[in-house]
Amino acid sequence: MRGCFPNEGRENVATPDKKFSVSDEFVHLARIALAGRSQDVQAFLQRTARRAKSVAPDLSESVSGLLKEAPTRSSPLRRQAEVPLPVDMDSRLQLMRVEERPVLDWEPVFFPTVSKQLHALVDERLNSDALRAVSLEPTRTALFVGPPGVGKTMAARWVARELGRPLLTLDLAAVMSSYLGRTGSNLRLVLDYAKGIDCVLLLDELDAIAKRRDDREEIGELKRLVTVLIQQIDDWPSSNLLIAATNHAELLDPAIWRRFEAVVDFPLPDRRTAESFVLQSLRDHTSSAAQWARAVSIALEGRSFSDLARDVSFARRQAALRGEDLDTHLSNLLRSDGLSKQSRIDLAVELVDQGIMSARKAKELTGVARDTIRTRKRAARIDEAAEEAVG
Ligand SMILES: Nc1ncnc2c1ncn2[C@@H]1O[C@H](COP(=O)(O)OP(=O)(O)OP(=O)(O)O)[C@@H](O)[C@H]1O
Ligand SMILES: [Mg+2]
Repeated sequence: MRGCFPNEGRENVATPDKKFSVSDEFVHLARIALAGRSQDVQAFLQRTARRAKSVAPDLSESVSGLLKEAPTRSSPLRRQAEVPLPVDMDSRLQLMRVEERPVLDWEPVFFPTVSKQLHALVDERLNSDALRAVSLEPTRTALFVGPPGVGKTMAARWVARELGRPLLTLDLAAVMSSYLGRTGSNLRLVLDYAKGIDCVLLLDELDAIAKRRDDREEIGELKRLVTVLIQQIDDWPSSNLLIAATNHAELLDPAIWRRFEAVVDFPLPDRRTAESFVLQSLRDHTSSAAQWARAVSIALEGRSFSDLARDVSFARRQAALRGEDLDTHLSNLLRSDGLSKQSRIDLAVELVDQGIMSARKAKELTGVARDTIRTRKRAARIDEAAEEAVG
């Protein structure tokens, strides 16, 4: 695991370099101590104690003892009240958004691989003692990658809520829009502030840094900014979780990408995930929610969660405004243009099978001939009967 130790990984070099590395680390310790970055100092000492265990057990024990005696950190809320939130020097606008107790509009539906990784991030932190007992640290930094509207920001909020910590969000796209020369110091201000309190920090829209690349005049500034970011990620203490989110992982500097200890890939919802998401949104509003969820998930295949959420709530709003049946408006969501031939057939069969519409209407909507629908239905029934017989 990469850590706050600037020279981690250099222990195996020849003696003169080793001496140099030790003095480097001492200078680093002096720098973070003089800057009052107590979180970093603690993280540094934790690592020293861990590494010294085999070569200098007495030193390791003394440092661990000191860490145990160290006063516990003040609560995030008290600390926030004492230290004002960082602001941009020019505009005096606050640099980040603070959600003390993150709230979600609804429970997220995560793809199984995503869910597993997110739960692991949370479990590691809630059970960090078990990890530290065997000289391991919880994951410090995670990169959330995926197209727009798949729940990256929502997942960061979910993680913070599960950990019972405030979520601090720095929107890099917003910060970068101000004077670029100021971005590095703003970034440092936010990260230094966030290190000092128990929180989850989200660096949202991380690719904003990469996107500015096109501008030749700014290349020098951007290089400096990337260096600041890399240094900040390396110095991030294991007591807090740093999450960064991006739509364009391919634009990120490989040096930044490499620094994240975990990468969570958020895919567009597949049919099954979309179906459970739509079902959750409709369950309390129509008695045939399950049928609609199936049909809508086929018709809106390949769309993001935010598209699905927007379309379903549009149908609900329309039905409420006009005092009409929700089913009528849900059927307006069933478009087949853009679907593959197989998906159009699946949709037609599903619509007829679930009694949502007649084969004639399904043909009008999907262009799938009634004969094809009938044949597919028959084939599906034969498959089902065969499965039952085997079962
Ligand atoms: N997995 C999910 N489960 C439930 N709702 C979701 C999920 N993902 C997204 N949504 C809905 O879509 C909205 C937008 O999601 P979010 O902002 O988290 O997406 P994002 O991946 O961060 O997108 P962007 O890259 O544009 O910032 C959420 O507020 C929520 O309503
Ligand atoms: Mg987002």
